[in-house]
Amino acid sequence: MTENGSIKAIISKEEIQAAVERMGKRLTEDYAGKNLLVLGVMKGSFIFMADLVRSIRLPIKLDFIHAKSYEGTESTGVVDVKMDAELDVKGKQVLLVEDILDTGKTLSVLKKTMLSRGAEDVKIVAFLDKTARRLVDISADYSCFTIEDGFLVGYGLDYNEDYRNLDYIGELIL
Ligand code: IMP
Ligand code: MG
Repeated sequence: MTENGSIKAIISKEEIQAAVERMGKRLTEDYAGKNLLVLGVMKGSFIFMADLVRSIRLPIKLDFIHAKSYEGTESTGVVDVKMDAELDVKGKQVLLVEDILDTGKTLSVLKKTMLSRGAEDVKIVAFLDKTARRLVDISADYSCFTIEDGFLVGYGLDYNEDYRNLDYIGELIL
């Protein structure tokens, strides 16, 4: 499988840059004067996170968490944390940064976890939002693009750990 033969470009580098800059402006307005902790969900969010925090013109703190939800335990808020966040979220306005919101299971658990640790508020910014595939009752407070379907790669998103470093979003054609 060659990269060019199997990937159909759907969101260009320029469109991504413009959307992330717009999102940064919106967050700058919404979080002015607040105690913002931007928490990136590993690994997929790392490029979006790097661009987004530079477009938020506010003093912020940032951290990363790598967690996977256990099947069937979403309601208890139990997560398999591969690498936990370092900073204390108590009293903070936490903004969870995710590459793509799909079934919603992972972020549903992470949101509950942050609230149980004493975060004052937890919101979600997803670079992509696949609304049609949602299985749990959760929505993105902010998203750059809404996607109907298809498996997407690039700008942090992977297929079996490949394609994360593409500077555009492509649809994987298998
Ligand atoms: P969910 O919302 O708990 O189902 O999980 C979302 C995670 O699934 C994302 O953070 C991605 O790692 C992965 N994922 C879902 N859809 C895609 C896709 O289209 N491309 C790449 N990864 C995806
Ligand atoms: Mg991910």
